[in-house]
Amino acid sequence: MKRNILVIGSGGREHALCKKLLESPKVANVYCAKGNDGMTLDGIKVIDIAEDNHDELIKFAKEQEITWALVGPEVPLMNGLVDDFKAQGIKAFGPSKEAALIEGSKEFAKELMMNNNIPTAAYESFSDFNKALCYVEEGTFPVVIKADGLAAGKGVIIAQTLEEAKKALADILLDNYFGNDEPKVVIEEFLVGREFSLLSFVNETGIYPMVAAKDHKAIFDGDKGPNTGGMGAYSPVDYVTKEIEQEVLTTIIEPTIQGMKELNKPFEGILYTGLILTEEGPKVIEYNARFGDPETQVLLERLISDLSDVVDDLLNQRVPKIEWQEEGISLGVVVSAKGYPGEYEKHSPLPDFETADVKIFYSGVKQEEKRLVSAGGRVFLVAATANSKEEAHEKVYTWLHQQPLANFYYRQDIGKIV
Ligand code: AMP
Ligand code: GLY
Repeated sequence: MKRNILVIGSGGREHALCKKLLESPKVANVYCAKGNDGMTLDGIKVIDIAEDNHDELIKFAKEQEITWALVGPEVPLMNGLVDDFKAQGIKAFGPSKEAALIEGSKEFAKELMMNNNIPTAAYESFSDFNKALCYVEEGTFPVVIKADGLAAGKGVIIAQTLEEAKKALADILLDNYFGNDEPKVVIEEFLVGREFSLLSFVNETGIYPMVAAKDHKAIFDGDKGPNTGGMGAYSPVDYVTKEIEQEVLTTIIEPTIQGMKELNKPFEGILYTGLILTEEGPKVIEYNARFGDPETQVLLERLISDLSDVVDDLLNQRVPKIEWQEEGISLGVVVSAKGYPGEYEKHSPLPDFETADVKIFYSGVKQEEKRLVSAGGRVFLVAATANSKEEAHEKVYTWLHQQPLANFYYRQDIGKIV
């Protein structure tokens, strides 16, 4: 029987996942809750159920005889959606609530790394403002200040001066800007080196790393300005050799998965390691318990295997057959609303796109009077694959520059900057 798949989430990552799943001849339907109106252009069935409405999601999955569900974003993972699906006999791909702590708590992640000798920046955590301030006053700059708990990629401040550090600490600990029950910060040593991410499929049979990807989180060209969810990505990454990927696997990913097992929080799903290649070798900046956005949009372009088979094998504790394209490079640029990651404009109409050379993955869009308009900070991503990074850059930007996008914003340097 053909598979009926339910994907949870509504961004460009989920659009790419759903589209890839639909390519399989073994898949009948891909439903996405809550999805976005742009996805329907690719035949994805968008379901109007919020990702925190576990009861309705379970009811839907039972009624539609869903083969399995795949949970995209971190919030439902942290809220135990995978556990709730499983308790009702519905197969679901993603970590349990307990295992998702690896992303949900910076403090938990740091302790895991310390206890398992996993290379990362030196750190201390604090909940008291004055103690935290004393610590930064005695340290060096820049210093990295991270809000504990989920912060949609925006909870990290790289303070160049004591003034900036003080403001960040006050925002998080005194004003509780991120609205956590007990605000905490992790204060970290600033690591120097080139960043990349390596995502892995994980089940009981083993760890299956993908190909390295590079995400540009800052809003402006030259990696300047505040961090966003991610403004562009490409894969593979020229400075990440097979040897470095192997080193990440043995010194970071394997001990992470082993450490989680020993804590009785076995991790299954996608483990995302955000890394910096320092002079001393790769070190962890962050873990995520899920696919990255926008990395997924470019990574899946490189997957030759049937994604629905890969996930089906992982869920049934079989060894998956995963084949990646060896040649060329995939690159994606995010088009955002003006003002993002601060207050931004909504309801800007999207032009009608002709997409012969590129692929579009929608995120913050909705349909109004028969046309798509912007409805979120990151609106869509444009992706292309070519023989080299330069060619892929050329392909995406030639296309972008031909579109009437004066009401939108995108970086000009994805693929041009290291
Ligand atoms: P995170 O949300 O933890 O990935 O951090 C967001 C961004 O802050 C990263 O992509 C890095 O550019 C930067 N960052 C985080 N931690 C460090 C660190 N210890 N040293 C240098 N840069 C960092
Ligand atoms: N691109 C970074 C993330 O998904 O968190």
